[in-house]
Amino acid sequence: MAIKLSQRQQSALIWTLYGLGLLPALWTFWAGASGTLGADPVKTFERFLGLWTIRLLILTLAITPLRDLGIFNGLRYRRALGLLAFYYAAMHFTVYAVLDQALFLPAIVADVVKRPFITFGMIALTLLVPLAVTSNNASIRRLGSRWSMLHKLVYPVAALGALHYSMAVKVLGVEQYIHIGLLVLLLAYRLVRPRLMEAKRQKRRAAA
Ligand code: HEM
Repeated sequence: MAIKLSQRQQSALIWTLYGLGLLPALWTFWAGASGTLGADPVKTFERFLGLWTIRLLILTLAITPLRDLGIFNGLRYRRALGLLAFYYAAMHFTVYAVLDQALFLPAIVADVVKRPFITFGMIALTLLVPLAVTSNNASIRRLGSRWSMLHKLVYPVAALGALHYSMAVKVLGVEQYIHIGLLVLLLAYRLVRPRLMEAKRQKRRAAA
């Protein structure tokens, strides 16, 4: 049975989601500041934020298939999850630029140009910017059907994120296979989705 929530309850849930979503970053920042983040706290912090970017991208992409399959209609939470993914990517980059590279621009530019995994990460972050900027109701109204086209950029972002992740880690273990596997699965679903939806429509028409 679907639970009907009032407008106020829905927005309270969304704000709770933002709060919960930012907890991992706050917790790791606190652990780093209090010296309990291991031998290389900057690297650990940087990796942790990158990993949460991937997790939030997975959750964002999972909303549509879960809805299609009738498991969970979480459309109203997709914006918060997508924005959280962007915030984590921005924090991941900030830790890299400020704590790892001490804001030394020539080193950052050299990394982006010469190290393919950083190039892919940088492209993914750049593509996330227009999505974050236009994730408000006014932009949805103003852009009309172009909004949906623009927001399809989330797929190249996810593919580049998976590539960046698989190249950043030295050895692929269970954790990496699970995260990358889920991203590949969600991207593959997008490719077959139009055909699945058409088949569903035809079945409904035939039944009617
Ligand atoms: C959507 C964008 C991005 C995603 C999803 C992402 C995700 C990740 C993930 C999952 C890792 C590996 C974490 C682990 O070892 O378990 C990682 C590592 C790394 N990322 Fe990103 N990243 C993104 C953008 C960037 C950008 C823009 C930069 C810098 C310009 C960057 C720099 C790095 C570096 C240097 C590492 C390796 C840290 C190390 O182990 O030495 N990433 N990233």
